[in-house]
Amino acid sequence: MYEKVIDAAQYIRSREAAAPKIAVILGSGLGELVDAATDKHYIDYKNIPNFPKSTVVGHEGQLVFGKIAGVNVVMMQGRFHFYEGYPMADVVYPVFVLRQLGVEKLVVTNAAGGINPSFKPGDLMLIKDFINLFGTNPLIGANDERFGPRFPDMSEPYNLKLIAAAKEVANKIGVAYQEGVYVGVTGPYYETAAEIRYMGKIGADAVGMSTVPETIVANYLGMKVLGISCITNMATGLHQEKHSHEKVLETAKNASQTLCRWVAEFITVSESI
Ligand code: 6GU
Repeated sequence: MYEKVIDAAQYIRSREAAAPKIAVILGSGLGELVDAATDKHYIDYKNIPNFPKSTVVGHEGQLVFGKIAGVNVVMMQGRFHFYEGYPMADVVYPVFVLRQLGVEKLVVTNAAGGINPSFKPGDLMLIKDFINLFGTNPLIGANDERFGPRFPDMSEPYNLKLIAAAKEVANKIGVAYQEGVYVGVTGPYYETAAEIRYMGKIGADAVGMSTVPETIVANYLGMKVLGISCITNMATGLHQEKHSHEKVLETAKNASQTLCRWVAEFITVSESI
């Protein structure tokens, strides 16, 4: 595993001179940040040694290197979901590679269902903490101390300084946000009403099918993480309509502009945090 990560990072370095300190994982329908970047270079996942084979078509499957307001950034356009059948090790492999490239701060974005009844579709939620309901996690197995400790701390999965900075820039540029706990599940089905009532009772404000594995590994590797959910719809039982992936993508696309303004501004100040 260690050698594989080194190989992947070496390949990327041979193709890309910039060494960004900040990375962004772009969630479903939230890819617009790429348009805000200049000096862009693209590296297809399929060309990176040992990267999982992507199942999706189109532009969802590449690293995008670029600058936002002069700050070097690398964006993951397309992520690997557990529900697609990838093993946990594949889901989080890119995070290992980003860390090896020198990334210190990771912004994770996602589309999520609202559980907190005060939320509405289109809201953006700063993630304060997570609940892992995947039934597994990416750190199970032999530990390689070169990456991180056997028993990593998880008391601050989303870095308090990054959260404070994100709030500050949101207020500055007039972006409204919610705050809450993200519960991660495997999917791919949208939850039952009873499951959502349960998740509400245990303290979750939003539910989604990603982000938790990447957050766990980023913390294990010593990265600072900021998480933002786009509430694309209310979860089962909190709304009348049936779920549709098309609706999720449509709402995400509409909120994407605001999310991108926010993340771009965050990146602008990120070097001083
Ligand atoms: Cl309602 N559930 C899950 N698991 N993921 C979602 C969602 C709901 N809405 C968007 N993504």
